Amino acid sequence: MVREFQSVIGKETRRQANQLWGGKPDVLVACVGSGSNALGLFHEFVGDEEVRLVGVEAAGLGLDSGKHSATLSVGDVGVYHGSMSYLLQDDQGQILRPHSIGVGLEYPGVGPEISFLKETGRVEFYTATDKEAIHACMLLSRLEGIIPALEASHALAFLDKLVPTLHDGAKVVVNCSGRGDKDIDALI
Ligand SMILES: *[C@@H]1O[C@H](CO)[C@@H](O)[C@H](O)[C@H]1NC(C)=O
Repeated sequence: MVREFQSVIGKETRRQANQLWGGKPDVLVACVGSGSNALGLFHEFVGDEEVRLVGVEAAGLGLDSGKHSATLSVGDVGVYHGSMSYLLQDDQGQILRPHSIGVGLEYPGVGPEISFLKETGRVEFYTATDKEAIHACMLLSRLEGIIPALEASHALAFLDKLVPTLHDGAKVVVNCSGRGDKDIDALI
């Protein structure tokens, strides 16, 4: 349901990319918590194989620390809230407590549809730590005067690693919520 409502973002992206660039973007980047918002951007382009879809999960204090929310990157398949998807769980299938500085990403599961897109390999997944997200948040605030939400800051943080690997002039769209004002308490 959330994907359906948020899918206006993907449709708008297609329209604006057409106007600005006369074509499709090369890469779409969004943070992934439970995945429904990210799908709002991705859904429109799932059938456009030449458009890379990149999801960035929260690595929290580091993937080895056990304090993260990287369900798709390091979790495995289980059942939670009645549906099968990727989960942070222990050997007995008990849910592990997630962590992220971006509270919207702090969830031990992820939606079935984005789990499916991991299975098919259509969406690539990477992670950014709390620290990297905070740094990206500060940087966008200073450079653009946009205070990104700490959730979206994870997607922005991944640009540091992504962009040097792309060809010159590659067209990258990052889904960015500018509601970082809600996170000021976590930043100071
Ligand atoms: C994408 O951007 C919109 C608009 O700011 C926001 O509502 C949504 O939460 C964002 N989704 C992700 C995955 O960042």
